[in-house]
Amino acid sequence: MRQKMTMSKNKTLTLVEGRKVNYRTINDMRAQTAGTGWGFSLLEEVDRESIARCDFGKYFSNYVIWRDLNNSVNAVDVMRIYAWLNKHKEIHTINTHLVGGRAFSSDKYYQHSLYGMDPVIGKNTPITYLVKNKDEVQELVKDGLIKYPLVLKERMGTAGKGIALVPDEEYLLSEHIRGGTWMNVMVEPYIFGDYDWRVFVVGGVAVGMMRKELDENRPGDFVQKSAGKNKTNETDPKVRKELSRIACRMASVCGLEYAGCDIIRDKRTGRYYVLETNNSAGWQNHFNDVTGLNMGRILLSWFDDMSVLDEKGFFEGVKAYTMNRVKYLYENKERFEQILAWKEKTKEAAGNTLAARLQRAYLEILNGADVKSAKGIIEEVENTPLCWAGNFLGSNIHGEGGIFEEDCIPTAYYLAIREKYDKILGVK
Ligand SMILES: Nc1ncnc2c1ncn2[C@@H]1O[C@H](COP(=O)(O)OP(=O)(O)O)[C@@H](O)[C@H]1O
Ligand SMILES: [Mg+2]
Repeated sequence: MRQKMTMSKNKTLTLVEGRKVNYRTINDMRAQTAGTGWGFSLLEEVDRESIARCDFGKYFSNYVIWRDLNNSVNAVDVMRIYAWLNKHKEIHTINTHLVGGRAFSSDKYYQHSLYGMDPVIGKNTPITYLVKNKDEVQELVKDGLIKYPLVLKERMGTAGKGIALVPDEEYLLSEHIRGGTWMNVMVEPYIFGDYDWRVFVVGGVAVGMMRKELDENRPGDFVQKSAGKNKTNETDPKVRKELSRIACRMASVCGLEYAGCDIIRDKRTGRYYVLETNNSAGWQNHFNDVTGLNMGRILLSWFDDMSVLDEKGFFEGVKAYTMNRVKYLYENKERFEQILAWKEKTKEAAGNTLAARLQRAYLEILNGADVKSAKGIIEEVENTPLCWAGNFLGSNIHGEGGIFEEDCIPTAYYLAIREKYDKILGVK
């Protein structure tokens, strides 16, 4: 086990998981909590009276990982629970408030709309159409909107099931391709990949990446592709940087504190393409063995880092949280440290965002302005709610912000200014 753990006293994790098939993740979380001194409670279902009364206090500890309740609870019931959780800010949650809600969060077609609109990963998003029958596929091809080879995919499929490679029209029209229902099918270009990756994002950072080799000889075997062949820990710093950037965006636009992001690389162009974000990804697929990480503990340690804010208050809390997590940065670690050491050399940022104004305030002080002039902006920062995906400065709107790599920079400006301000004015 690589990461250091702090012993957590008097904390209990609530794991919301009503699907018994996921017993491996449940068992592992139970073992990890026991191993680190946490309590553990499994929430499989919620009784009707609690739902009727919106009385959920007995179900939740202060740390909740939301996966899925069992099917006896419907979408509106779940929304009632969310509404309750929203009112209880003292509860730290993972993956409760996902963008689009539970009905759409695992829908690959919906996810692609979130990726496609993003200014950074828009260009990494394969174009995707909904189709109801073979005619519609032919029409898309005829209109030049998509080309063979293409892929037909279930919008809500998992583990590579229900995905078909369609090399040409003849194959499309053959009996190999589904005759029956076309309820939830989408079509997208086939990507000739060399590898694909599973990247785990926790609290706005990519904590680990498993590379899977794609088998040239079995292009249409998606079950095997999804499971992965010759899996290795991704160690190439260039690849890690790029995957981190993409995966953190994928998690962010989906509003997920924890996500298993699937990314494939086109071997002809080298471009990465986003495939899907899994909001209750387990790690039974050898992820821990391959990467040397312990995902269960990483989730608990994020909660540990989150709770420092409760204990320490805004400035000290943000500082402690940020310092604990700087180790996860791929690009901005050096810049982060330069800023804190008042050695940042940069042009003035344009715009009127809080981030831009913080940077200008910092540069003014660096150039000799009195730190007292920063009183207003310090107050403003400290009255701004912290980001949904971690205790750093960022947008509080779900699906925006929540990327530590980006948000650590304005956070560093704030920390540097506040530190100097306290020193000069003797604030404790
Ligand atoms: N458009 C595509 N082109 C080539 N390979 C694909 C494509 N879509 C999916 N795959 C392969 O199939 C695997 C499973 O697809 P994915 O979209 O992640 O769905 P699932 O939910 O079944 O895992 C991926 O890991 C990837 O290797
Ligand atoms: Mg997948």
